[in-house]
Amino acid sequence: MKILLLGKGGQVGWELQRSLAPLGELVALDSHSTEYHADFSHPELLAETVHKVRPDVVVNAAAHTAVDRAESEPELARKLNATAPGVLAEAAQAIGALMVHYSTDYVFDGSGTAPWREDSATGPLSVYGQTKLEGEQLVARHCARHLIFRTSWVYAARGGNFAKTMLRLAKERDRLTVIDDQVGAPTGAELLADVTAHAIRDTLRDASKAGLYHVVAGGETTWNGYARYVLAQAQVAGVELKASPDTVDPVPTRAFPTPATRPHNSRLDTGKFRSAFGLDLPHWQAGVARMLRETL
Ligand SMILES: NC(=O)c1ccc[n+]([C@@H]2O[C@H](COP(=O)([O-])OP(=O)(O)OC[C@H]3O[C@@H](n4cnc5c(N)ncnc54)[C@H](OP(=O)(O)O)[C@@H]3O)[C@@H](O)[C@H]2O)c1
Repeated sequence: MKILLLGKGGQVGWELQRSLAPLGELVALDSHSTEYHADFSHPELLAETVHKVRPDVVVNAAAHTAVDRAESEPELARKLNATAPGVLAEAAQAIGALMVHYSTDYVFDGSGTAPWREDSATGPLSVYGQTKLEGEQLVARHCARHLIFRTSWVYAARGGNFAKTMLRLAKERDRLTVIDDQVGAPTGAELLADVTAHAIRDTLRDASKAGLYHVVAGGETTWNGYARYVLAQAQVAGVELKASPDTVDPVPTRAFPTPATRPHNSRLDTGKFRSAFGLDLPHWQAGVARMLRETL
């Protein structure tokens, strides 16, 4: 089997390089790749790449993920998040490949408290959310055999992340202020990459499993709860901090105005994914604790 991976250097892309490797020959590209075109700002060139590589599976982990910057560069965000995945999906369909793509909780308006299901009404609040929604719609329309995974609050051990920022601030200050009115599930890039590999194998054997799925770690928290958990874990590990979990003050989102509006309710119902693929999605704390043990 041959797999074409786009966006190999991102949080999820990096972990996919590991998790997809045992499935077969992996051609992993990023925007700087020279052998094949993989720069999403030239979407029209991506079809040629798919036709040249002729993979059995196209996995797209590239995206315009700078949520606030997208507000001021909507054309670029649309190219990367919608047009390019649409071109990839058309090309995948033309060669009979399975197309795997990632989307986001930001396709929802964040109202209410119930977990969003795959068939819940969408209502993006931001350019990022709108262009990601257009992207998933194009992928579904152009490639019959697709897997689209909506996820949320992705972190990875590699590079910067929210937990590392909280730890740095907690070493500098006695008190932190972190918003407590957005609810979601921090989801490890490792977990996403691992379940993607399982889902690809299953879908190649049984095409009826193709479709749109919500995939996040188990449980839920706020950014404030996430920060407290990170500090508590660091304390247990003996890291010296000025701030403690008890001095992480809750504030509403409006205390930190940003160009892009974020949804308050980012809960995603993962029942469809777990039952279709017979997989568990471990509690978010398990993944965050592991990431901290690797990085502390
Ligand atoms: N991060 C989150 O919290 C989150 C939440 C929900 C859903 N998602 C979705 O999950 C997927 C993976 O996200 P992630 O967190 O792994 O994102 P990420 O770490 O920001 O990685 C995005 C990747 O896209 C690449 N990229 C940017 N511009 C490109 C271009 N012009 N051509 C080709 N590649 C380009 C980046 O490469 P360079 O670094 O070389 O620019 C990077 O490798 C995305 O679909 C994202 O929308 C993410």
